[in-house]
Amino acid sequence: MKVSPEILNMTPYRPGKPISETQREYGLKTVYKLASNENPLGPSPKALAAVREALAHQHFYPDPSAYELLSVLSRVWNVPRECLSIGNGSDEIIDLLTRIYCEAHDSVLTSKAAFQAYQVSSVANRLKLRETALTKDWRFDLEAIADDFLSHPEQKIRLIFIANPNNPTGTHVTKSEMDKFFQRLGGRDDVLLVFDEAYNEFARAKDYASAMDYVGKVSNLVVLRTFSKAYGLAGFRVGALVAPKEVVEIYNRVRKPFNVNDLAQIAAAAAVEDTDFIRDSQKITWEGLDYFSKELDRLGLKHLPSQGNFVLFDTERDALKVYEALLRRGIIMRPVVNYGLPKHLRLSVGRPEENIAAIKALEEVLAEVPKS
Ligand SMILES: Cc1ncc(COP(=O)(O)O)c(C=O)c1O
Repeated sequence: MKVSPEILNMTPYRPGKPISETQREYGLKTVYKLASNENPLGPSPKALAAVREALAHQHFYPDPSAYELLSVLSRVWNVPRECLSIGNGSDEIIDLLTRIYCEAHDSVLTSKAAFQAYQVSSVANRLKLRETALTKDWRFDLEAIADDFLSHPEQKIRLIFIANPNNPTGTHVTKSEMDKFFQRLGGRDDVLLVFDEAYNEFARAKDYASAMDYVGKVSNLVVLRTFSKAYGLAGFRVGALVAPKEVVEIYNRVRKPFNVNDLAQIAAAAAVEDTDFIRDSQKITWEGLDYFSKELDRLGLKHLPSQGNFVLFDTERDALKVYEALLRRGIIMRPVVNYGLPKHLRLSVGRPEENIAAIKALEEVLAEVPKS
């Protein structure tokens, strides 16, 4: 069958290797997966309790308007309900936005080393992807992004994706950078500014600000949130879109009515108010990051300060060899070759015993795999 050249040339998205697959392939009983930025505490207990109660009603279709979930989100996030919608993970929202707002061969603009879903969705939808260089400290360069947009009207850039904090770098853009960016590109009707805040709850830098504070003030701003990280609901697949009501209205026309199943809606509504759990998730994440930072320093490996629930570090070796040697020891980390980083690995924060095991295995592997 004929496949279009854009699709044939796509770099496939490589998800973190599942635990069961690693156990099978390496004949291991204990495997720790620190590869997909999941929540080491499991799902929010309030979400689990609500889901258990709802199991008996699953012969009904889900509420296509997600009334209950959007009511809770509207209250907790202080956003009008008509400015909210949901997706099957924020991944789905990213894909639908590219389909809705771009015509074939329009462009999507983001940064190098940005979350890979922007590239996958752009290319799969026959769009051109433009990437500006990172700053010297590996952050999105909002000034360069605005410059690129303004100086290339012929490229028909219709969407700009900013992951804040970004995955896999863990870096953020500052409030003052955002202010300047909105001064230059805010209010335009030819481009949507999409701030993907999957890791918002983990950001602790003093100069970090959520773009949610600008919703309603910047008319072409869209904010994405996910329930996969701080709320521990990655398997349920729920993401949220916060946007001007005209954008939400169009988005709802295109999304499938039952894109987020009933249990997922119920889980997300309970989780967003589970403040004890969110606090515990932050605590275990921040303690884990501090531990990794100290240990990576001790091992002499360069790493970036992270505002997410993971850290990106330089193995100074062929990272795939390090990754493979770690798998043999039952530790799954995440190679980032697909981001143009052949020597780096991304390590998600786990439970303390998992973090300790990961560092111990890494120390052994560094002695085994020569520097390159
Ligand atoms: C920056 C960023 N955005 C979005 C997502 C997608 O999250 P989900 O589709 O689970 O909501 C991820 C997942 O890792 C991410 O890192």
